[in-house]
Amino acid sequence: MKEVQPIKGFSKLDKESKIKWLLENYANNPDEALNMLKGYWHSSEEAQKLHDEFIENTISNYYLPFGVAPNFKINGSMYTIPMAIEESSVVAAAAKAANFWMDRGGFKAQVLSMVKMGHVHFTWEGVSANEISKFFSDNEEKLWTATESLTQNMRIRGGGILGMELRDKSDLEPSYFQLEVKFDTRDSMGANFINSCLETIAKEWKLLGQSSNLGGEINIIMSILSNFTPECVVRAEVECAIDEINEGSGIENIEFAEKFVRALRIADVEPYRAVTHNKGIMNGVDAVIIATGNDFRATEACAHAYASKSGSYKSLTHATADDGKFKFWIDLPLSVGTVGGITTLHPMVKFAHELLGNPNAEELMKIVAVAGLAQNFSAVRSLITSGIQKGHMKMHLLNILNQLEATDSEKEQIIEYFKDKVVSFSATIEVFTKIRGLVAKN
Ligand code: MEV
Repeated sequence: MKEVQPIKGFSKLDKESKIKWLLENYANNPDEALNMLKGYWHSSEEAQKLHDEFIENTISNYYLPFGVAPNFKINGSMYTIPMAIEESSVVAAAAKAANFWMDRGGFKAQVLSMVKMGHVHFTWEGVSANEISKFFSDNEEKLWTATESLTQNMRIRGGGILGMELRDKSDLEPSYFQLEVKFDTRDSMGANFINSCLETIAKEWKLLGQSSNLGGEINIIMSILSNFTPECVVRAEVECAIDEINEGSGIENIEFAEKFVRALRIADVEPYRAVTHNKGIMNGVDAVIIATGNDFRATEACAHAYASKSGSYKSLTHATADDGKFKFWIDLPLSVGTVGGITTLHPMVKFAHELLGNPNAEELMKIVAVAGLAQNFSAVRSLITSGIQKGHMKMHLLNILNQLEATDSEKEQIIEYFKDKVVSFSATIEVFTKIRGLVAKN
């Protein structure tokens, strides 16, 4: 790799100059790379400008497939769920689970709570926890007052600050305390709202502290929302008679139900399995989160912290098979927005919301949780019956064929060939070389 000199003021360059510098310094074939980058620019200048302005230093767009999984019956209503994801089998698995459960009453979902949290992290040296606690009680009202103009609109919409508490964390870190603030952010994810409130509270708290007669040294370390939202939780569930659980997967119903429950118990006691199990859930969750313009990094971080809340990392889903009934559910902490962020800006995101009937945040939470549960059902169903590779590789076949630059007619023949066979990379190459009339190299 050639030595590249640092560049000053890169963000101030116009787009063409940024690309020129980049390609001159890093591309093996600058002309080819330029064509490729430009090939992903939007054909409408206005739409491209919108994308350019989402972030700094945009040079092109990064496409993900936007698929849909129809036939999701949730609380009696039918949904077609938008999913933005690159992994071949995810949408197919979601659609399969949707059809399966549609015939068994569909999914039920409910939001269990909608409380979000943020913290002013501060130290106060030379003052006791009791004194700080009394000082907080005496001055809490002033902190609420300081945020009044910020929270006015949110209060009109039925949300706002729900409560404030002083937390003594000095056993974990010397002189460390928190103001823990709880919020209801209605249909917005609320990150900007929460952070603005916290910064205002922090400023007021410091001023109050400094002008008090407590003395010592008060220092605001930081003020930030928590992406861990164990009090903003949605439950999605399905249930059916054990007699109905296993249409066409080749094993007895009761054996299927028991194996399924056992597979989930393994994910509860074995973190190596739990991580993969939960990853499969997040295949569904993230795909909807991304399609609807929400923050998948926050969603991921939160889900995994929640999966560890008992002290060890466990399955996010649960199942029972008792008294002739199979029950399967997920409790998922989720902070999503249906207003704000890019929800009203990105045309695909707007379309995704339209497809879902412009849900509010609670409705979207239910849909996302259902997508995660459905994904997990399909994965575990395959794992305990046919194995995962049969379906997975069938969906991946087109990727392999595209990698081999197969023509449409070759693709057709090869897909037909694998109709009743398990796909593998080597078997695909073998058939491909035969059809092309090439001699296979080993
Ligand atoms: C693959 O993306 C996801 C699975 O590994 C999930 C699972 O094992 O449960 C199939």
